[in-house]
Amino acid sequence: MTNTLRSERARPLAGAARVPGDKSISHRALMLGALAVGESVVGGLLEGDDVLHTAACLRALGAEVTRRDDGTWHLFGRGVGGLVEPADLLDMGNSGTGARLMMGLVATHPFTTFFTGDASLRSRPMRRVTEPLARMGARFVTREGGRLPLAVVGTAQPVPIRYELPVASAQVKSALLLAGLNTPGETTVVEPEPTRDHTELMLRAFGADVRVEPTEQGGRVVTVTGFPELTGRRFEVPADPSSAAFPAVAALLVAGSEILLSNVGVNPLRTGLYQTLREMGADILFENEREQGGEKVADLRVRAGRLKGVEVPAERAPSMIDEYPILAIAAACAEGTTRMNGLAELRVKESDRLGAMARGLAACGVRVEEEADVLIVHGTGRPPVGGATIASKFDHRIAMSFLVLGMVAEQPVVVDDADSIGTSFPGFVALMNSLGAAIA
Ligand code: S3P
Repeated sequence: MTNTLRSERARPLAGAARVPGDKSISHRALMLGALAVGESVVGGLLEGDDVLHTAACLRALGAEVTRRDDGTWHLFGRGVGGLVEPADLLDMGNSGTGARLMMGLVATHPFTTFFTGDASLRSRPMRRVTEPLARMGARFVTREGGRLPLAVVGTAQPVPIRYELPVASAQVKSALLLAGLNTPGETTVVEPEPTRDHTELMLRAFGADVRVEPTEQGGRVVTVTGFPELTGRRFEVPADPSSAAFPAVAALLVAGSEILLSNVGVNPLRTGLYQTLREMGADILFENEREQGGEKVADLRVRAGRLKGVEVPAERAPSMIDEYPILAIAAACAEGTTRMNGLAELRVKESDRLGAMARGLAACGVRVEEEADVLIVHGTGRPPVGGATIASKFDHRIAMSFLVLGMVAEQPVVVDDADSIGTSFPGFVALMNSLGAAIA
């Protein structure tokens, strides 16, 4: 049975909440814990389906990964190069991050690993990682178009590479840095624009040597030295700014709201949405800014107010790549036109998010224009009509975005299948309803 959800007009949002742990950081904390020597303890881990798939795969690769009753996760790693051949297929579920980073991990181990995932993941492009990993010596057998299921024949004699990313992607960068750990010498990735640097920060925290230098064109050169001694450590995962985006935008849009979202990660390479919302006139404060395990965190205070349309530059895309669906909802309620540029990558996320937002907003009575890599939303400053049933295509961020729209629209908005929300934001409905939403 599919899990249909209906979101009606909300009362003013009030109160404090903590959204679940950061998805990107959770995957990485488990993977590095599995490579470190000794015990690692991870608090605040996102226990969403994506991360649970990563935990199961690391167990299949020989790491000890357990959850204690107090909610902490304990890992005993195998040491760099110490993973063992899994006895069965690795199922990555819906997770592109899990799949791509894990492919990097095993590519420089001398055994064969088979990967699969759900229908969404099996349709997503993997050549962006198989191509550079092949240069390091791994071999791949893939389905047509470089898609999953695929086999990685890891190499016993990896060669370090210097690789210029054709598209800015933290997943591809991270896959290569993880492959570089079990490779002699220096593995270098050049990114055209800076992307989230959680892998770099966490590798350093675990004891690896990672150098980062700016390029003249505004990108970065990231170099990892092979065979580091990674040592187990304690790690506290901050709340996910990409998940906080949903209650934050809801609080901006529902008149009379004021909420506090605690302990949210505010790494500057993740906060493009908040910068954009402020340019639209939003009242969002980062209070009590501090550092936690090398990552910046803050409490977000959000108050409702009027928003105006803006132009979002293409260069900002890497720092808000997962936030365009919810930004499009904010834009639909703002006064004037919002133009979002440089969105080609949105076409190859958990679904074609550019197409899904354009269709869903149009069905809710919003005037939108869709170009190859641009989304233009014409807001009127009044709540959209709503009243549509949205096909979420098993995409968590599409589902959550339209449930937020239902909180302000004239007519309730229905999402056909909301099970995907569990991949990144378990407890979404309860948390939103505790603040004032009416989602059932
Ligand atoms: C992620 C990187 C981004 C993002 C994804 C998480 C990561 O993907 O969309 O949700 O954890 O590295 P790309 O690297 O493909 O842009």
